[in-house]
Amino acid sequence: MVNRDSFANSFGALMALVGSAIGLGNLWRFPYLMGTNGGAAFIIIYIAFVFLFCIPIAIAEFTIGQRSQSNAFGAFKILAPGTKWRFMGILFVLGAVMVLSFYSVVGGWTMDYLFQAISLSLPSISDAPNTFSKVISSEYRSLISTFVFLLSTSVILFAGVKGGIEKCAKVMMPLLFLLIIVVIFKSLSLKGSSEGIEFLLKPDFSAITANTILSALGQAFFSLSIGMGTLMTYASYVRKNKNVTALLSKMAIADTLFALLAGLAIMPAVFALGVSPSEGPGLLFIILPEVFSQISGGSFFAILFFAAVFLAAITSSISLLEVAVAFIGEEFKMGRKKAIIVSSLFCLVLAVLCSLSQGVLSSFKLFGKTIFDLFDSTTANFIMPIGALLIVIFVGWKMKKTEFYDEISTSKLKKVIYFIIKYIAPIAIISIMVFGWIS
Ligand code: TRP
Repeated sequence: MVNRDSFANSFGALMALVGSAIGLGNLWRFPYLMGTNGGAAFIIIYIAFVFLFCIPIAIAEFTIGQRSQSNAFGAFKILAPGTKWRFMGILFVLGAVMVLSFYSVVGGWTMDYLFQAISLSLPSISDAPNTFSKVISSEYRSLISTFVFLLSTSVILFAGVKGGIEKCAKVMMPLLFLLIIVVIFKSLSLKGSSEGIEFLLKPDFSAITANTILSALGQAFFSLSIGMGTLMTYASYVRKNKNVTALLSKMAIADTLFALLAGLAIMPAVFALGVSPSEGPGLLFIILPEVFSQISGGSFFAILFFAAVFLAAITSSISLLEVAVAFIGEEFKMGRKKAIIVSSLFCLVLAVLCSLSQGVLSSFKLFGKTIFDLFDSTTANFIMPIGALLIVIFVGWKMKKTEFYDEISTSKLKKVIYFIIKYIAPIAIISIMVFGWIS
């Protein structure tokens, strides 16, 4: 391979991984899923999944990339030459592109709200639902914001792995934590915020259904960027002999911590103003502007908050686009710039469909869902679990144990991790998926 770009050091790799993990999944998806699935009860199941088997699965995905030092498709050509495993790489690339296409639409809304906040034109309380429907459904507005978001994503990638991905993540991640902490202080200072904290701490197990459990698993995969070749692709930019277990545990801890911080920033404010947390996907874009319009200094905090959401989203979208860029660049021997343009254009076409499916195409439904919802639910509840399942089967049953140990050589826990990858994770993923689909 000619001069593959790489991360400068393990801190850079960690920041890039954390940047990929923390995103709209934490700030937009997690709060509304938790709001509709019993609050604390959902959090407990979610955290159990992350620590029981998502970290080992993430390690499995990572070792594939690190060992092969290649893109999601090329990795299987190298590790399992002449087998059908390479088609799994195609599933990953397509999956990543599908996630990116609806992700860019939501990323676009975030930019739209950030501009509204900066220009002090966030809606007042009675206008908030109306404004949201304008933001998402008036064609030009949402097409433009989607386009600008995708364009910003590609511009960062132009600067390369070290110069673009790593540098951005190193600056943006610490800033993101700072911003969210400021917002938390404000949220906790509101009168009536304690009910929100109660919601985060007191589990309501009666709200748990089979679907809740499947959603928690899907959310854990989504939030940790598992099962779409992202971890694999980033791992291929990490030089060997790193402590993989520590690296991915740190990533998972940072991501989970941030999801909880996001809950702490959002729920107390939502409860303080007496609105319901079970609003669904509109929680971030309808309820929060309402909250901001009612509190003192609201416009200032709105800017901080939507800036945080934007930073989180862009460091994740670059990791999704990079899966396709590495694949196209390496497999079709294309220069990086050209590969970025080709992959972005491909994503743009799908993103336009997702964007329009909130407006003019809203009555066009496949399997009873709009294109946007279909992409969101099939990737999280279907492609990611299947991708994760194939990954653990590959590492547990196809790769040699010694090859796996070789990649995580410094870990004392390697036997336990290997056992989870080989037996526990496949059984758990299959049973949760079957259980969730049946009911
Ligand atoms: N983890 C990101 C978030 O929480 C989204 C993301 C980035 C992702 N790369 C991924 C999701 C790969 C699934 C697979 O917002």
